[in-house]
Amino acid sequence: MADLMDALTSLAKRRGIVFPSSEIYGGLRSSWDYGPLGVELKRNIRNAWWRTMVQLRDDIVGLEAAIMMSPRVWEASGHVAGFSDPLVECVNCHQRFRADHLPGFHAPQSGHEEDQSTVDMATKPRCPSCGNDRFTEPRSFNLMFKTYMGPVEEDAATVYLRPETAQGMFVDFQVVQQTNRLKIPFGIAQIGKSFRNEITPGNFIFRTREFEQMEMEYFVEPGADEEWFEYWVNQRLQWYVDLGVRKDNLRLRPHDPDELAHYAKAATDIEYEFPFGWSELEGIANRTDFDLRQHQQFSGQDLSYYDQENDRRYLPYVVEPAAGVDRALLVFLLDAYRVEEAPTGSGGTEKRTVLALHRELAPIKVAVLPLSRQESLVPEARRVHDLLRGKWMTKYDDAGSIGRRYRRQDEVGTPYCVTVDFDTLTDRQVTVRDRDQMTQDRLPIDSLVGYLRERLP
Ligand code: GAP
Repeated sequence: MADLMDALTSLAKRRGIVFPSSEIYGGLRSSWDYGPLGVELKRNIRNAWWRTMVQLRDDIVGLEAAIMMSPRVWEASGHVAGFSDPLVECVNCHQRFRADHLPGFHAPQSGHEEDQSTVDMATKPRCPSCGNDRFTEPRSFNLMFKTYMGPVEEDAATVYLRPETAQGMFVDFQVVQQTNRLKIPFGIAQIGKSFRNEITPGNFIFRTREFEQMEMEYFVEPGADEEWFEYWVNQRLQWYVDLGVRKDNLRLRPHDPDELAHYAKAATDIEYEFPFGWSELEGIANRTDFDLRQHQQFSGQDLSYYDQENDRRYLPYVVEPAAGVDRALLVFLLDAYRVEEAPTGSGGTEKRTVLALHRELAPIKVAVLPLSRQESLVPEARRVHDLLRGKWMTKYDDAGSIGRRYRRQDEVGTPYCVTVDFDTLTDRQVTVRDRDQMTQDRLPIDSLVGYLRERLP
């Protein structure tokens, strides 16, 4: 299974999907850049989430809050005091680790995403680097990145890079509700970057210090929260299944009471079976009225909601599905990665690597391949490409044998390849090859758009 991670990391680098950041300077550990195909895949994930969570619903609206917010936000939310992980240092090699990631370490919960699968209380902790079993006492390490706003580096100007997008929805709750005349229950959704100074980033893009979140805060009447919590757990699990993730590789893991974040009454993780074990893909939390109550107290503003029908005011409870774009991207890639035996043109078989990505997510939807580079084919192949490019993300590829070009597109998950050959010039037909079935349909160019429209989002 670990081989799968290596194979995927190497494919991602080789095809320019995701690769180490600033590599000409030796890279920056845990920073990754998304190349041309990675950008498309990421955008498709964001769009799929936005479509499901905002576009197709009457009760959820969007928001884009600033990354740098008033530092008071993080005092109120509890992040300044409590958003920390237990840090230990090996007394022999002086490497630093997150204590709760060392098998056998008993450590307090930090209150944010955890991979419990790595904690084994029965084992004596040993340094993963040198094998020594003596560590310094765990000390609390705050995960927020700090910087200074303005030209003077003094405490008054300290700001934080947000460690979650959620607080934007809480501090803007009232202005969004009032300006849009929203009635409870309703949600506010946001996609954006978050930053955490993780002690042990790793596993490719699974845990990084800069990452992107897709979060939605769903404001409900107190008392209705448990029902909505169940609803959102099921909705969110189904989202991954609808986008092609195999059900067997997903599971729900309710949090034990002693591992709940400081703001949560209940939480369930959607976990995926990664090559390194079952770990969190997305978390759904019942945050109660904790955040609104804190912001009400710290800001001195009344943040209650007026329920006109019943003529009463209350602080809404909040149910929050919180997903990571990068982590979802890793899951979609892992789940789609296959190496198969495929028939060759000469009657034998050969290995093909294919990313069986859902069509909505595939970075390129259609590739147009002229059978050869001969000049007589180029204008027709270009015309076919022009016919498609405004409608889908396309690629024109004329380099190498046709077999190699099919393999190249399979490897990045392109659902359809359209081949323009010499017969096209007379019969006005092209061949469409399906990535998964590897079947080929011959059809008139005039029917091509209709044919693809039936099959592509
Ligand atoms: N607002 C609640 C919150 O942020 P979380 O469980 O800490 O909850 C939500 O984060 C999701 O964000 C996680 O399930 C994961 O997908 C993603 N995430 C969190 N920390 C991450 C990191 N260091 N690197 C990549 N993704 C991360």
